[in-house]
Amino acid sequence: MASELKVQISVDVLETSELSAQEQQAMQLAQDAANDAYAPYSNFLVGAALLLEDGTLFKGSNQENAAYPSGLCAERTALFALSAYHPHTKIKLLAVTARRRQEQEYLPAMPCGACRQVMAEYEHKQQEPIPVLLQAPDGKFYRFKAVADLLPFQFNKEHL
Ligand code: THU
Repeated sequence: MASELKVQISVDVLETSELSAQEQQAMQLAQDAANDAYAPYSNFLVGAALLLEDGTLFKGSNQENAAYPSGLCAERTALFALSAYHPHTKIKLLAVTARRRQEQEYLPAMPCGACRQVMAEYEHKQQEPIPVLLQAPDGKFYRFKAVADLLPFQFNKEHL
């Protein structure tokens, strides 16, 4: 008989008041970063913030292009810029949020597959989990313990 693998992930669903001070600061910076998005085509503004091991924060936003596929998501903008500027710094938290240009309300920000793959690369590189805090429905937040929970059965350098 065929065997079955069951994959279980647990995600914390949190109110703002349940976030730590550092998590709140990271989410606040992600919200600020969304204002910097260059998104004239989708008008969907995404902000990402990285909390680094020295307690500082680093931000990114989506950067679109008239040749649509040449644009880049907020998460990858932040991660690639961090890796370029501070290649040996470990990431303690990744926070992501989004909103539509004409609206104040923050929307669920679920990273796309390509961003999950890139997040997984850096998690693997630093050999320490990167917790991920995402804007969720109804003004709440999802907190994943690691990128691996967002991308099970991932392809990484161990498979090469
Ligand atoms: N976007 C992100 O920045 N992150 C994601 O994970 C999903 C999508 C951006 C890309 C594009 O600029 C806009 O949202 C609409 O897809």
